Amino acid sequence: MTEPRIHEGLEGVLVARTRLSCVDGQAGQLLARGHAIEALVSEVAFEGVVALLLEGALPSPGELVTQQRKLGAARSRAFERLRPRFAAIVTKDAMATLRSALSLLEPDATPADALAMAAVATAGWIREQRGGPLLAPEPALSHAQDLLRLSSGAEPVPGAAALLDAYLVTVAEHGFNASTFAARVTASTGADLPSAIVSGVAALSGPLHGGAPGPVLDMLDQVRTPERASDFVRAELAQGRRIMGMGHRVYRVRDPRAFVLERALARYQSEEGASARLTLARAVEAAAEAELSKKYPARALRANVEFYTALLLEALGVPRAAFTAIFACARVAGYAAHYREQRESGRLIRPSAVYVGERPLAV
Ligand code: COA
Repeated sequence: MTEPRIHEGLEGVLVARTRLSCVDGQAGQLLARGHAIEALVSEVAFEGVVALLLEGALPSPGELVTQQRKLGAARSRAFERLRPRFAAIVTKDAMATLRSALSLLEPDATPADALAMAAVATAGWIREQRGGPLLAPEPALSHAQDLLRLSSGAEPVPGAAALLDAYLVTVAEHGFNASTFAARVTASTGADLPSAIVSGVAALSGPLHGGAPGPVLDMLDQVRTPERASDFVRAELAQGRRIMGMGHRVYRVRDPRAFVLERALARYQSEEGASARLTLARAVEAAAEAELSKKYPARALRANVEFYTALLLEALGVPRAAFTAIFACARVAGYAAHYREQRESGRLIRPSAVYVGERPLAV
């Protein structure tokens, strides 16, 4: 008997219809509810993208202010909830701390509550690492401004909040990636929103999904100078190692988010002065692209979102160990929107497997 075809990794398997985002891996295009990511990044604040994903349309300027206030008020509530419990849940691992903080939300928590808790807990974790106490949010600030302020304890330098905002917009939503799918599986059982978001965050913690940007910087530290990039990449590949920040399950061209983030970072750094780090990163990307195309001529392995995420978050002074948690601060918007969509239209997700284990002996 021939074994039925097994879709390992579910690659190419269609499991739902979605109105939230379109990830075109061949064209290298990302749309969020019909809007190209390039346009959203230059024209819309993170709060606007949250409204777009959750309410279905971009807010008017007045609605944007309301959305900002709503998120600001939610940050204050999250702070009050987290403060008495933070010492009990904080660990050396930012993602584990974030997971525990999100678990503190009540079952009827709103998407704003979840976004707020993610920001307050992640900023609190960064403060804790630096030996500072949790800070109270300033609800009148934008989400990006307050996230930076809560993390550093200081007013963000000019341009920094705009750079973080561009990042949050860029990574807020991205189709049926592993963590969003995990959130949807949980939503499909009828579980509450915080449970679905915790599922997403748990799936995001693995190095093949959200954990690559820290290792990208470790790699740049090892390469040290652009001239050493090709030798380094060749040696890594010869030892069977993966080059972090390269390759993608869906994109067969350079990830459109890599373009957007690289541009935003270059603009920020041209204001700050030229960056040797960006020059080094570009050299490593070029070397990795060249060597990977020799090794896998049939498979285009190009820079993914994590490559320039690493540089951007480093430029903002975010510690490496908090990179994935900051990513989650944005992606919670996508999880919440997928939660709603799944609850409205989805069916219990329950695939099957071919049993290849022991069977009782026939008598
Ligand atoms: N460096 C070296 N080799 C890589 C690679 C990388 N970054 N990405 C993929 N490959 C190799 C794979 O090992 C595989 O080789 P094999 O056929 O000899 O086993 C081949 O290229 C094809 O891999 P592919 O099927 O495209 O990968 P995938 O869809 O299973 O995995 C990633 C996609 C993202 C997990 C993978 O590209 C990767 O591990 N990248 C590095 C981690 C990273 O940047 N993650 C963030 C993703 S946004």
